[in-house]
Amino acid sequence: MKKVGVFDSGVGGLSVLRALLNEIPEAAFVYVADSAYAPYGERSRQEIIERSRRIADYLMAQHAIDALVVACNTATAQAIDKLRQTYPDMPIVGVEPALKTAAALSRSGHIGVLATRGTLHSERFAQLRERMESATAHPVHFNCQPCDGLADAIERDDAQSTRILCQRYLHALRTLETDSTPIDTLVLGCTHYPFAADVLTELGGPGIQLVETGVPVARRTRAVLGLEGHAVNPVPPHTDLQLMSTGDPEKLTQAAQRWLKAHVKARAFVC
Ligand code: DGL
Repeated sequence: MKKVGVFDSGVGGLSVLRALLNEIPEAAFVYVADSAYAPYGERSRQEIIERSRRIADYLMAQHAIDALVVACNTATAQAIDKLRQTYPDMPIVGVEPALKTAAALSRSGHIGVLATRGTLHSERFAQLRERMESATAHPVHFNCQPCDGLADAIERDDAQSTRILCQRYLHALRTLETDSTPIDTLVLGCTHYPFAADVLTELGGPGIQLVETGVPVARRTRAVLGLEGHAVNPVPPHTDLQLMSTGDPEKLTQAAQRWLKAHVKARAFVC
């Protein structure tokens, strides 16, 4: 059985794990929430590289993984190149804001991107944005909004703060649009944000579609594992899942129950 290591700064990567469990039901998964060091979005590049390496070392040494999924846009933006240099033989799949999908879906060509400061200020994101703005068939414009505090509010399951911050950042995006070119597509460029999708849909109104990245990342992971074809359907209940947290494991247990309907007790570990 193939084993996949998945990590994020906290519970956000569960949105990617949800897609992985659906797409690759025949694999085993170890999920690491680096909650003791969350949020990553406002940390330095060096700190994120250091945390990512420690977690990758742990997953390789203790769990003998066959592939690593960096289920965090910020860690992908800041550290995936270094991880690939450090572990050239390990297949590593990252998560990037879905600008290409959004460009294909948007009719107005005006797209909002919500992500952490760490993602939006990275060199990797600047290059992705430039590529997409110049390469699409019809002109697209990305309005990028750093969402300080939002991943943290979702991490703490603080519904009130989540709502206030979503309101604030959608309002900030709205000030960038004009009547003739409304933002019609919103990229959720942080793996925590799909867990605020209901609030964002409600506040964004019916004219806004949300774009996230879980499914394409899961399909890519299936391909790098060398697994042919599609997952067996219907998907069997997933039994081979371990949840690990550098912070409070109870929070991860509850988040997995709430969002994945997975009844697995998370364990604490130090790394
Ligand atoms: N979930 C992460 C991301 O996709 C990081 C959020 C954070 O820790 O700031 O960017």
